[in-house]
Amino acid sequence: MTVRALASLLLLAASSALAAVPAQNALEPHGVQALAIHDLWRLTLLVCTLVFAAVLAAFLYAIWRAPRSKERTAPDVAVLDQPEPKLRRPVVIGVAVSAVLLVVLIVADFVTERRLAHLPLKDAVRIEVTGHLWWWGVRYLDDEPSRMFSTANEIHVPAGKPVILKLNSADVIHSFWAPSLHGKKDLIPGRTALLHFRTDKPGVYRGQCAEFCGFEHALMAFTVVADPPEQYEAWAARQRQPAPAPVTDLQKQGLAVFMRSTCAMCHAIAGTEAGARLGPDLTHLASRSMIASGTLPNTRQYLAAWILDPQRFKKGANMPPTPLSAQDLNALMAYLETLK
Ligand code: CUA
Repeated sequence: MTVRALASLLLLAASSALAAVPAQNALEPHGVQALAIHDLWRLTLLVCTLVFAAVLAAFLYAIWRAPRSKERTAPDVAVLDQPEPKLRRPVVIGVAVSAVLLVVLIVADFVTERRLAHLPLKDAVRIEVTGHLWWWGVRYLDDEPSRMFSTANEIHVPAGKPVILKLNSADVIHSFWAPSLHGKKDLIPGRTALLHFRTDKPGVYRGQCAEFCGFEHALMAFTVVADPPEQYEAWAARQRQPAPAPVTDLQKQGLAVFMRSTCAMCHAIAGTEAGARLGPDLTHLASRSMIASGTLPNTRQYLAAWILDPQRFKKGANMPPTPLSAQDLNALMAYLETLK
């Protein structure tokens, strides 16, 4: 496959992906936390703009009032005998203003930090997010183990309810960043970091790994879908269910293909014998809008192309190519489409 063909394919994928998930934007805060960060950003921008404008104005003024001289003008040696002009006042004022502005920013920073830390966490949804090269493992925690479930790359949360994310990594350092909801937080192997957020506005929010983590760092996106609470509960109830058993012969054949090919060595489908955890959980794959960690829209064509040759879309991804006959692929697709 030529580079050009690959580029056009990626472009196509990107444009469809954009259609499926709105672009991320830190300047459009939709979370309680993102709003606090945005306020701090606006204040910092205002202060820095004013300081920049003041410095620029002083600079232009200095140029304007500097004595003009021509090439042939004799050097003005008279000034050498005069005492240096007193700069004490402007320096004192400059230092004082800078100090006051810095204190203002430090206080604002402190206040923002407090706002971020004081999100009420009663009845919070607890989700464990694990960074992998290059996808996101998502596990919904619960005091009752039977109510826990796993998914990948698409995180549903109830709007108006706090969410506690437990972040960790399976390999290298990643960073979880959904700009409309909260600031960044690193996922460090061997450590658990906590991130709290709440959004009161139902919607789809794009997120992205924000720490360079290797070749496909740029293709390590995710989506946070904030559902109205009752819709979220219905979604969670569906996700807790194991995958439905295949009904038609084609679907049954598809499951058999899944089990005997390399798929079952890395992926889990609850309700079947596939229980590997190296790749994303596929129990409800068909319910997700994107595949390959926000890289491609979850359509039959893209999914099939991805299964046959993931490296075509994501070089260096750990998923190997799966050469399948057209018949096997067709059966596999028929089965995967039942995983709603
Ligand atoms: Cu994971 Cu960058």
